[in-house]
Parts: sequence; structure tokens; C-alpha cells
Amino acid sequence: MKVISVLSRKGGVGKTLLSVGVAQVLGEAGHRVALLDRDPEGSAMGWQHGAQAGGIPLPYRVIGPIEATTMAGMDFLVVDTPPNDIRTLQDSARQSHVLLVPLLPGAGEMDRLQETVQALSEVDLQKGVQMGFVLNRLEHDNVSSAMRPALEQLGYPVVAQIRKAVDYQRAFGNLIPAHLTAPFKEALTTLGVKL
Ligand SMILES: Nc1ncnc2c1ncn2[C@@H]1O[C@H](COP(=O)(O)OP(=O)(O)O)[C@@H](O)[C@H]1O
Ligand SMILES: [Mg+2]
Repeated sequence: MKVISVLSRKGGVGKTLLSVGVAQVLGEAGHRVALLDRDPEGSAMGWQHGAQAGGIPLPYRVIGPIEATTMAGMDFLVVDTPPNDIRTLQDSARQSHVLLVPLLPGAGEMDRLQETVQALSEVDLQKGVQMGFVLNRLEHDNVSSAMRPALEQLGYPVVAQIRKAVDYQRAFGNLIPAHLTAPFKEALTTLGVKL
């Protein structure tokens, strides 16, 4: 089983969206996927409850920490993590084969990113771990377009870019519409995960 963790010390950057998006595209490609919700706020769990209430079958199952230990036969475990919880971040990172770090455009966001990078640098990661940064909520302005070169200058590979779209917000408790799933596929394939 391949473990993919979505991490950031900052809240509201799109961890849950990226987790759900990645789980969805893997599930739609025919893999057996579980999404582990390690956030005590349970946003990914809430997403699944919304889908159940609406009668929408998701191509993955959201599970809690106890279930996670008994999950067998999955191809992928996607881990959604809480903000401001360095222990959970480091614990998830240690057990992962792929790390995805979402971030928002803005100079202040770059500073906050360093906290996440610092926390990850303290972890004994798996051999051959793949790590990528995902720019989220991009707009057509100078701040957004400056982000990718700035990150790459720091040696942080940008593996996908997600534009700001109200349809992502509206997708809570539902499937992400097909025309908005390309960045999730790109993030995975860029890091060598076959769909
Ligand atoms: N690309 C996007 N476009 C529009 N809204 C977004 C986008 N990414 C995230 N959001 C919204 O921003 C909020 C925070 O996203 P979320 O994935 O819950 O972040 P986190 O899990 O890091 O706290 C949610 O309301 C979500 O719908
Ligand atoms: Mg979240």
C-alpha cells in the first residue's frame, strides 16, 4: 500500500481539498483507496457524511484512526492532516511514500511554508520519498504568477497548480466535477504515481 500524506502547518490552505481530490482521481482510476482523516475537526469525514446524505457514491472511503489500523487490501491510503499539529504532521510524514504540501499565493504564505519545511526536515523520511508542492487558489494576478518561480528558486518543486474556483467550495460533500480534477492527476503523475 502506498501512503500519500497532505501536510501543512497552516490551516485553510487546501489540505482537505487536495486529499479528497487525490483520493477521488485514484478511486476513479480503479484503485482501492482509503482517506484517513487525522484532523480532529473531521472535514474529510464531514465531506463523506454530506455525500452519504445526498446518496452520492464516492470512489474512496473516509476512515478514522482506529479503522486505519485494520484496513487491509487498499492500494492507497491518503492522509489528511490537521493544521498546527507538528506531531501528527511528522508522524504522518514518517510513514508516507508521497508528501504533498499545499500553499496559497502571497509573501506571508512563503514564510509560513518554511515552518512546514522545517518540521519535515526533522523527520527521518522513508527512502525514496517523493515530495511536491501544490499551489492552491491561484488567481490571474502578479502575486499568483510570482509564486511558482519563487518556490522553484528555493528548490521546492511545484507539482500542480489549482485555480481559485467557487466550484471547489461547492463540491464539499460531493464529487469534485470532472473539469476540475486535472491538478490532482497532475500532482500524482508528476511524482510518479500511476493512475
Ligand atoms: N482552489 C480553491 N478555490 C476555491 N475555494 C477553495 C480552493 N481551495 C480551498 N478552497 C476553500 O477554502 C477553504 C479551506 O480549504 P480546505 O481544503 O478545507 O483547507 P485545509 O484543509 O488546509 O484547512 C474551504 O472552504 C475550501 O472549499
Ligand atoms: Mg482540513
